[in-house]
Amino acid sequence: MGGTVVNHDQQFIADVLIRDGLIVEVSPEIKAPEGTRVLDATGLLVMPGGIDPHTHLDMPFMGTVTADDFYSGQAAALAGGTTMHIDFALPVDHDIREGLRAWKEKAARSCMDYGFHMAITKWDAEVSEAMEELVREGINSFKFFMAYKGVLQVSDSELASGLQRCKELGALPMVHAENGDMVAWLQERLVSGGITGPEGHALSRPAALEGEATGRAIRLAGVVGVPLYVVHVMSIDAMEEIARARQSGQRVVGEPVASGLALDEGALWDANFTRAAAFVMSPPIRAPHHAPALRKLVATDHAVFNSSQKAAGRHDFRKIPNGVNGIEERMHVTWQEMVVSGLATPSDFVRMTSTAAAQVFNVYPRKGRVAAGSDADVILLDPRVSHTLGVGSHHSRMDTNVYEGKVVQGKVVTTISRGRLVWHEGRLRVEPGSGRFVPLPSHGPLFQASAVRGHGMEEQSRRAATFPYGPTPVPREGS
Ligand code: URP
Ligand code: ZN
Ligand code: ZN
Ligand code: ZN
Repeated sequence: MGGTVVNHDQQFIADVLIRDGLIVEVSPEIKAPEGTRVLDATGLLVMPGGIDPHTHLDMPFMGTVTADDFYSGQAAALAGGTTMHIDFALPVDHDIREGLRAWKEKAARSCMDYGFHMAITKWDAEVSEAMEELVREGINSFKFFMAYKGVLQVSDSELASGLQRCKELGALPMVHAENGDMVAWLQERLVSGGITGPEGHALSRPAALEGEATGRAIRLAGVVGVPLYVVHVMSIDAMEEIARARQSGQRVVGEPVASGLALDEGALWDANFTRAAAFVMSPPIRAPHHAPALRKLVATDHAVFNSSQKAAGRHDFRKIPNGVNGIEERMHVTWQEMVVSGLATPSDFVRMTSTAAAQVFNVYPRKGRVAAGSDADVILLDPRVSHTLGVGSHHSRMDTNVYEGKVVQGKVVTTISRGRLVWHEGRLRVEPGSGRFVPLPSHGPLFQASAVRGHGMEEQSRRAATFPYGPTPVPREGS
C-alpha cells in the first residue's frame, strides 16, 4: 500500500491488490479484503518484476556444466528482483525436440516463471520440421551461433535457411554475432605467439569481428525479410550496424547485457588467473567506451562456472568456459548505471528490465506491467538503500562474482512471484517445483503491422516477395 507504481509509460501513487497470483486492482485507497496481508510500500517504488531474456542455467558447455541450475539460478534471480527469465535450450546431438525435452526436465526444479529459446546448431529438413512443432509448444525464438567454430557455429547458408524458416513460422531469429572463423584464426596465432592467458580471449575477439558478423546477419535478415534479434551486443561496432539498420526501417533488436554496461576489459589482464578468468565471456567485455548505448532492453547472459571449472583453461585461454554471472545483479547494476547516473528515468528502467522483453517475446501485458489482469510479478525497490554486490551476499552457487565489491544505490527489498512473497526482509522463501513454464506465442509485435523492409534491398525484396515459394520465372519465347 501507498507505494509509487512505476510502469514504462506512467508513474503514480497507488495501492496494488493481489489475489490468486494475479493483480486484481491498482488504484488509490483500496480497502484490503479481510485476511489480506498488507505490505507498507510508502517511499518505495512498485515495479513489474524483471524479465531476463538471456540465461544459461544447467547448460553443458565447453566440457563442463554451468554451476547454477534452475533452482539456484532462479532463487538468485528472485533475490535480485527478476521474476521471469528466458533460458537457451540447446539441442541434444543437434536434435531440437530432444533438447526441449531435456530442458523441460532441468526446469522441473524451477521456483519462478520461465520460457525457452532454442538454439539451432545444424540445418536439415528434420530440424526445419521440428521448429514448427516447437513453435506450437511455445518457443517463439531460435538462436543461431556465428561463432564457436566446430561446435555450435552455423554457416551463412544454414543461417539463411534458418532465417527463412523463422519468417514462415513467425518466430524471432536470434544471432550470436562474431566471425567464428576469424576468431579461430586469431586464437591460433596468439597461442603460437605465446599468449595463452585470459587476455588472449579479448585479443582474439576484437570488436571489428563482432561488428562484421552483426552487419552480415542484419543483411541476411534483410534479404530474407525477417526481423532479427542480436544477443549480447558488446561493441560500438555492432551497435552502429544495428542503429543503421533501424534507421533504414529494418526491424532489428540489439540486446545489451549488464556486464557490458558496467565492466571493463582490463580485468582480463589481471595477474591473478582466477580473477581474470572469471571475466571470460563471448563476445568479450570491452573497454568502457564500448558500453552499449542500446538501452531498450537489458539481459545478462548468466552462464556461470566456478573457479575450478574456469581453471580448465589455465594454460590455454581457449579452454576457459565462457560466461559470467548477472541474473541476480542485473536489476541493481542497471538501476545504478542508468538511473542513479542520470541516464534514465525509473520508467525507462522498467522498460529496459521488464516491459521491452515482455513485448519482444510476446507476453505483454501479462508480464512487464503492474496493472489489473497482469501476473502478480511485482518488486518493491527502495531507492535510499545502498549495498555491496559480491560473493558474500549473492545467492548463486558461484565462488566468484564479476561485480565483487561494486557499491550500488537502490535495493530490491521485496519480490512477489505470481502472488507469493518470495523475497522479503532479506529472506528467500522458495520451493523447487513451484515455477511454471510460460509458453511464448509466435507472431509477436515485431512481425506485425507494416512489412519488414530490407537493408537498402527493397527492390530485390519486392521481386522476391513470394519467398519461400520463390519468385516466378519471366516467361520467354522459345524456352
Ligand atoms: O560467454 C558466453 N556468452 N557464454 C554463454 C554462451 C553464449 O554464447 O551465449
Ligand atoms: Zn552467445
Ligand atoms: Zn574500442
Ligand atoms: Zn548466452
